[in-house]
Amino acid sequence: MSDQRDITISVLKYNPRDSDSNPEFVDYHLKETPGMTLFIALSQIRQEMDPDLAFDFVCRAGICGSCGMVVNGKPILACRTLIANYPDGILQLMPMPAFELIKDLSVNTGKWMDAMSTRVESWIVDNGTEIDITKIEERMEPKLAEEIFELDRCIECGICVASCATALMRPDFVGAVGLNRVARFQIDPRDKRSDEDFYELIGDDDGIFGCMSLLACEDHCPKNLPLQSKIAYLRRKLVSVK
Ligand code: SF4
Ligand code: FES
Repeated sequence: MSDQRDITISVLKYNPRDSDSNPEFVDYHLKETPGMTLFIALSQIRQEMDPDLAFDFVCRAGICGSCGMVVNGKPILACRTLIANYPDGILQLMPMPAFELIKDLSVNTGKWMDAMSTRVESWIVDNGTEIDITKIEERMEPKLAEEIFELDRCIECGICVASCATALMRPDFVGAVGLNRVARFQIDPRDKRSDEDFYELIGDDDGIFGCMSLLACEDHCPKNLPLQSKIAYLRRKLVSVK
């Protein structure tokens, strides 16, 4: 007799491109295997029960940021989620809000991130500084390089956006991910933008002044980025810009 636990995975299925499709929860019943992640469970469902089930995965290691979904009301990375974390063995899965729904659990975070990156000009702006490739690269203090690297660890999973009440109310809000990106370039000495330039980009309710400090972004970020302290830092800097 098997001592494997029975689990139920209930998925909100919907295909917005099919006029016959209506949103409905579909229950899948399976046995929990040792060390089973939600990725493994969903792959088993797709392989053995429902080849039509849509969800996104690439790395299965918390690196690519493609497997965000809402599990029992909380946005998480499915590849880093153990079924064992759910004592009653019941998981209700929904696609992340705030992003365009592709199908079932698959959402288009790439389109959202692309628009956000353009909006906050997510690149080094050197104001036309001539680069002499014959010169040795300029040094950067290791402490500062580490500070920049810390903010660059974002994997663009969108979990902070799906957790954010402002992002759900304001479709153009750049979210903690966008504000983190601005903070990253604001401390980079190669970026020649002034505080006034950053104010032009994010000095409104779709930017730094839209955040209501509810903290869900930082609570849920799978990379534990210091989102709220960076938002507070930027807000303090930009509030004094005339
Ligand atoms: S800041 Fe965190 S939660 Fe938001 S996109 Fe980056 S890694 Fe994901
Ligand atoms: S599959 Fe890449 S982060 Fe989950």
